[in-house]
Amino acid sequence: MKRVITYGTFDVLHYGHINLLKRAKALGDYLIVGLSTDDFNKIKNKESYYTYIQRKMILEACRYVDLVIPESNWEQKKKDIIKYEADIFVMGDDWKNKFDFLSKYCEVIYLKRTPDISTTKIKQEL
Ligand code: CTP
Repeated sequence: MKRVITYGTFDVLHYGHINLLKRAKALGDYLIVGLSTDDFNKIKNKESYYTYIQRKMILEACRYVDLVIPESNWEQKKKDIIKYEADIFVMGDDWKNKFDFLSKYCEVIYLKRTPDISTTKIKQEL
C-alpha cells in the first residue's frame, strides 16, 4: 500500500483544495493530511475562519482523505513521514523546492496549484 502525506490549513475548503487532495490521493492508496492547528496558524501569522476541530471534521468528510493529523510545528514533517511510513510527500507548487530536503525520506512531489482560487481570495471577496 502506497501512503501519501500532505499539509496545509485547508480553511474554508474550496475546489482548489479538492483538486489537490484528489490528485494527491491518486498518487497512492492512502492519504494523510497534516492539518495546521490553530496555534501553529498563529505562528504562521494566519488566522483561520474555522477552528482546527471544524476544519478536521470537514476534511474527514472528503472521500480522498483517509486520516487527518495535527501539524503543530515546522519540524515534524520528517518524523511524520517516518511514523506513518509515507512513500510520497505532496504539496502545491507554491511550495516548490521548499521541502526538497525531505527527499531523503520519501519521494517529494509538487502539484500545480489550481489557478484563481484561494482561501484568502474567498475571504476578501465575501
Ligand atoms: N492549493 C492548490 N490550489 C489552490 C489553493 C491551494 O493546489 N488554488 C493547495 C496548496 O498548494 C496546498 C494545499 O492546497 O498544498 C493547502 O493550501 P492552503 O494554504 O491551506 O490553501 P490556500 O487557499 O492557498 O489558503 P491561503 O489563501 O490562506 O494561503
